[in-house]
Amino acid sequence: HGTSKINAKGHLEIGGCDVTDLAKEFGTPLYIVDEALVRGRAQEFMSAFRQTGLRFQVAYASKAFCVMAMCRVAEEEGMSLDVVSDGELYTALKAGFPADRIHFHGNNKTPEEINMALDANIGCFVVDNFNELHLLNALAADKGKTVNVLLRITPGVEAHTHDYISTGQQDSKFGFDLGNGTAFRAVETTLGLANLNILGVHSHIGSQIFEVEGFRMAVEKVAAFAVEIREKLGRTFTVLNLGGGYGIRYVEGDKPLPLGVYVNAIADAVKSVCADANFPLPEVWIEPGRSIVGDAGTTLYTVGTSKDIPGVRKYIAVDGGMTDNPRPALYESKYEAVLANRANDSLEEVVSVAGKCCESGDMLIWDLNLPKVESGDLLAVFCTGAYNYAMASNYNRIRRPAVVFVKDGQADLVVARESYDNIVGNDLLPARLRKEP
Ligand code: LLP
Repeated sequence: HGTSKINAKGHLEIGGCDVTDLAKEFGTPLYIVDEALVRGRAQEFMSAFRQTGLRFQVAYASKAFCVMAMCRVAEEEGMSLDVVSDGELYTALKAGFPADRIHFHGNNKTPEEINMALDANIGCFVVDNFNELHLLNALAADKGKTVNVLLRITPGVEAHTHDYISTGQQDSKFGFDLGNGTAFRAVETTLGLANLNILGVHSHIGSQIFEVEGFRMAVEKVAAFAVEIREKLGRTFTVLNLGGGYGIRYVEGDKPLPLGVYVNAIADAVKSVCADANFPLPEVWIEPGRSIVGDAGTTLYTVGTSKDIPGVRKYIAVDGGMTDNPRPALYESKYEAVLANRANDSLEEVVSVAGKCCESGDMLIWDLNLPKVESGDLLAVFCTGAYNYAMASNYNRIRRPAVVFVKDGQADLVVARESYDNIVGNDLLPARLRKEP
């Protein structure tokens, strides 16, 4: 997929770069990002929306993969940016991302984070709860500012990837509940707060979703709410944000829809509900993360040791693991992989891929078909662009890998591999623990 292919040497090539060369130049483990594929995914969303005739914003959910280079690509592709912490906000601002296209999410924004965002004049706060409404209003007032807000609504539609439960009140830590009148009270409250300007509402129904039905249900609930607010409170929302969650293909059996299909389903539902209620068409915002970067990422590892338990299983161990990809351990996520230096060799054995962390749960892939594996082979694990680097840790004091963007035969380092100094960089030795010289 994307620009990946097997070259004449039988090596995996991504973005015109032979990954065996990338391993030599940058070392392993290495995150490789197919920049053209990222841009292509962004363009799929953008062009699908353009064809709907609606006003829209596609806000890249930076939690999936937030580094300065990615913020630049998002900006160049015309996307907005969803951030959920001071760290993501700082990264975006440092990359020069236009503040007025930044949306700030989160269910427990601290006063420091809010002040940072106020000082930067970001485009919109997605407010999650009553505490935040009052805090944000007070902090904005202190600075003599009025800020745009969306209220995050819990619509009572929850996607469990393949089916949806529609409940009166969803049990979630996020947002104002629609079913029990809380969301209505939140709008009333907001309208009474002088330094907040409510643009509309937000909903997010889940992640890695393969169907449009849940989005349709969410649009109907959120739009019906907008109509109710207009009738009862005389305020007309101008923005509906439907969140992220558009699924991607990790392994066979994952059946994602073309991104335009999600966009059209959302747009059609918005148009039809608005036409029925004679409601002016709002701007529609979405927040894709995984579907922008997920399948553009590949992690390259070097195979080290192996352990064959005859009649039971053969383990091979790579030079990374749950530190660079915690998803298999956390969610039992499945991945596909190939031997990148011998991608044409016939598949001869079934192995299970272990990481190098001191933990039995540190397994990346169970029962993978590979050619006869040797120490020193390169293993490429696909679809690691989203929630991998973003969720990487220093468990066992393992240094986080480098990230390279590849495009048209050029490889650019966008995150350097961590150094030993990075590892001990924030450690301090109190005088009483220092060794005498
Ligand atoms: N908007 C909101 C409010 C969200 O909470 C999320 C994801 C997104 C957008 C982006 O969703 P996406 O398009 O990426 O599905 N760590 C988990 C995924 C957590 C998603 C959290 N929220 C994983 O590795 O699968």
